[in-house]
Amino acid sequence: MIGQPFGRTVCFGLLVTGMLAGSATYAASPDKEQLERGKAAAAACVACHQADGNGLADADHSPWPRLAGLDATYLEKQLKAFQSGDRENAEMESFANMLNDDQIADVSAYYASLPARAPTDKPEVSEDVLERGKQLAISGDWNRYIVPCMSCHGPDSQGVGSEFPDIAGQHPEYIQTQLQAWKDGTRQGDPLDLMKAVSDRLEQSDMEAVSAWLGTQTPANAASSASD
Ligand code: HEC
Ligand code: HEC
Repeated sequence: MIGQPFGRTVCFGLLVTGMLAGSATYAASPDKEQLERGKAAAAACVACHQADGNGLADADHSPWPRLAGLDATYLEKQLKAFQSGDRENAEMESFANMLNDDQIADVSAYYASLPARAPTDKPEVSEDVLERGKQLAISGDWNRYIVPCMSCHGPDSQGVGSEFPDIAGQHPEYIQTQLQAWKDGTRQGDPLDLMKAVSDRLEQSDMEAVSAWLGTQTPANAASSASD
């Protein structure tokens, strides 16, 4: 059962958070003009990330991640990772390269300000698979040295600060492509190679399971709970 060493989990998370705390930066709240500028820059992004910033993943499209409600500093870092080649993605590379540093800050602040949409589609996997995914996310698999996702991404996987992004309710197809990208070495730049270490230990079936379960969870800054 899931009666796993919870104390150990929490300690690990605190340790890692402590190690990264020194590098965290906290952006000042965006002003109205910055959000206006960001919205204008986002005109180039809506074809994929959609007008409400919640992305789209279906059989006909590559998984376009939800950006709405993610941390602005995290988004900035990712746009710069596409520019530097730390993240390799043909679709994103050209769009990231269109932006200068100011535009990156503006568009990131804009997406961070949008409410996230809670998932509505039922996952197309069995209950057993979802149960396995939940176990990996909440308890990990200590026999295989798989650390629970929540020990870094927060108790509801809704993210912690600017370093650990909100992965709750993100499109499962996107989560899975990212885990695979770390495994393949096409996504880098994660602090201390933390995600590389996690992904290397996951089998294909683990990736599918944990992505499917996370996709059923409610994101931080979901529309119903958005306060501003
Ligand atoms: C042609 C489709 C397309 C367009 C247009 C596009 N993106 Fe993307 N975007 C993607 C895809 C696909 C990914 C996932 C890439 C990957 O797998 O690494 C992505 C990922 C991202 C990420 C990383 C999100 C995360 O959670 O790490 C950010 C940030 C982002 N896009 C911002 C933008 C911005 C800002 C624009 C407009 C200037 C834009 N994108 C335009 C397809 C697109
Ligand atoms: C030891 C800490 C740690 C653990 C455990 C961890 N993560 Fe992460 N994760 C991170 C960090 C740090 C990032 C941000 C990487 C970056 O800045 O590029 C991240 C990013 C991600 C992203 C990218 C989100 C996006 O918007 O692109 C996904 C997906 C993800 N993690 C999934 C998982 C899953 C699934 C698990 C559990 C199986 C997990 N993580 C466990 C530290 C961790």
